[in-house]
Amino acid sequence: MQKLQLASPTAVSVPALFLFVLFLLAARQQRSLLDTYRSGFASVSSSGSPRLEPGRPAVARVPKGCDIFRGEWVPDDGGEPYYTNRTCPLIQEHQNCMKYGRPDLGFLRWRWRPAQCELPRFDAAAFFDAVRGRSMAFVGDSLARNHMQSLMCLLSKLEYPKDISTTKNQEFRTLYYESYNFTISTFWSPFLVKANQSDADYGSGRLWNIYLDEPDDAWLPGVAGADYLVLSGANWFTRPSLFYESGRLVACHYCLVPGVPDLTLRHSQRVAFRTVLRAVTSHPGFNGTAIVRTVSPTHFEGGEWNKGGDCRRTRPYAANETRMAGLSLDFHTAQVEEFAQAEEAARRRGGGGARLVLMDTTAAMLLRPDGHPSRYGHWAHENVTLYKDCVHWCLPGPIDAWNEMLLQMDISNVGLQNGRSICPRTVT
Ligand SMILES: *[C@@H]1O[C@H](CO)[C@@H](O)[C@H](O)[C@H]1NC(C)=O
Ligand SMILES: *[C@@H]1O[C@H](CO)[C@@H](O)[C@H](O)[C@H]1NC(C)=O
Ligand SMILES: *[C@@H]1O[C@H](CO)[C@@H](O)[C@H](O)[C@H]1NC(C)=O
Ligand SMILES: *[C@@H]1O[C@H](CO)[C@@H](O)[C@H](O)[C@H]1NC(C)=O
Ligand SMILES: *[C@@H]1O[C@H](CO)[C@@H](O)[C@H](O)[C@H]1NC(C)=O
Ligand SMILES: *[C@@H]1O[C@H](CO)[C@@H](O)[C@H](O)[C@H]1NC(C)=O
Repeated sequence: MQKLQLASPTAVSVPALFLFVLFLLAARQQRSLLDTYRSGFASVSSSGSPRLEPGRPAVARVPKGCDIFRGEWVPDDGGEPYYTNRTCPLIQEHQNCMKYGRPDLGFLRWRWRPAQCELPRFDAAAFFDAVRGRSMAFVGDSLARNHMQSLMCLLSKLEYPKDISTTKNQEFRTLYYESYNFTISTFWSPFLVKANQSDADYGSGRLWNIYLDEPDDAWLPGVAGADYLVLSGANWFTRPSLFYESGRLVACHYCLVPGVPDLTLRHSQRVAFRTVLRAVTSHPGFNGTAIVRTVSPTHFEGGEWNKGGDCRRTRPYAANETRMAGLSLDFHTAQVEEFAQAEEAARRRGGGGARLVLMDTTAAMLLRPDGHPSRYGHWAHENVTLYKDCVHWCLPGPIDAWNEMLLQMDISNVGLQNGRSICPRTVT
């Protein structure tokens, strides 16, 4: 499986050294960029000059070989949240936990610490530097949007994007950072493969038709020229659904339709994911990096989401207090296995094309039952379908760590290594 590791020291060559020197120069550049922007955008930042905490360098890279996805949450004494709902107006209502009165702000005082190194704080200037002239597409379910909004808030310290969408559909936006020539877009595709809701209801709710072997047209053609693709999908497979392959009904999940075998959502999630990875790695128009973000675990306790379940903890778990289990474990296992197979298949095929990178955030997020909106995604007196939200993540909140991780991944892949040592399809 592909991890974010740089070339081994023995593999250092003249070009690698050259790149390293470039990186050092770039790192100096970043520092001065940061200073420039700090003064220029003072009105955006509420906290004045950022404080540096011990062990959290402002501009730095994780060392070679450090697995940034294994670790634990530790108190972030003195670390300030990157933004608030005042400094970032881009927070979607339902994740604006402060607006809706979340009283315990302790959940903002933790940082992710990998077991083998320190994860640097997010640095907007360094991020823009790494993605200048590039484009990033967030594809999939609402967690993709949650992630993107966290990124936009982190970047809002320096710049707000312009909406240059060509459609009015809010599920498909294109945003442009003019000063950095950086484009972010978002594509709604909750199953990632083709799906639509039928009117059929056999007593388990309206069924979804999921076309397990057909990648969704809603995004695949649209992302052809993108440099980065961030894929997010898993939780929607829990819905009652009918599975199609080659256009024919073959099985279902909880459909209760006589004569249709129930192969469970584990089947649909795995097969759909396989289809998507295959489509991305073999799409002739896509030569970028596909970042496969693993399942974001939910934390309902005391019942399911629609049966009174809630998430009211106010502290992260320690690593020894919980284990990946149940659906999160099964989704994660399928994703990691399918990722490894897609990567292996791409390696065998050889040649150019897409790179796959696994962004394995599940273990980190599993430890954050305190990071969801719960009932603070809306007013207490609103009485529409007021379920507790233990799926999405408050902004600001632990999901900001995804972008701390992403920044380290970007620099590893593009800034320093230029895809060389970790690109499966050019290694062969
Ligand atoms: C931001 O959060 C505060 C509470 O901390 C709340 O009073 C305010 O209405 C919120 N503002 C916006 C714009 O969401
Ligand atoms: C922005 O980036 C694109 C893609 O790299 C490039 O073709 C274009 O010339 C850039 N535009 C500016 C104004 O730098
Ligand atoms: C769902 O999509 C399939 C395949 O594109 C199509 O044949 C079918 O008519 C659609 N069903 C509904 C209810 O829209
Ligand atoms: C992707 O790479 C292939 C082979 O290197 C090349 O033929 C193709 O034109 C590239 N496509 C794009 C959209 O850049
Ligand atoms: C977890 O580990 C900590 C020390 O790191 C220890 O104090 C605590 O008792 C452990 N908890 C459990 C449930 O094992
Ligand atoms: C709650 O919903 C009921 C009907 O479903 C309605 O009569 C009532 O006014 C609503 N209450 C509030 C506070 O919106």
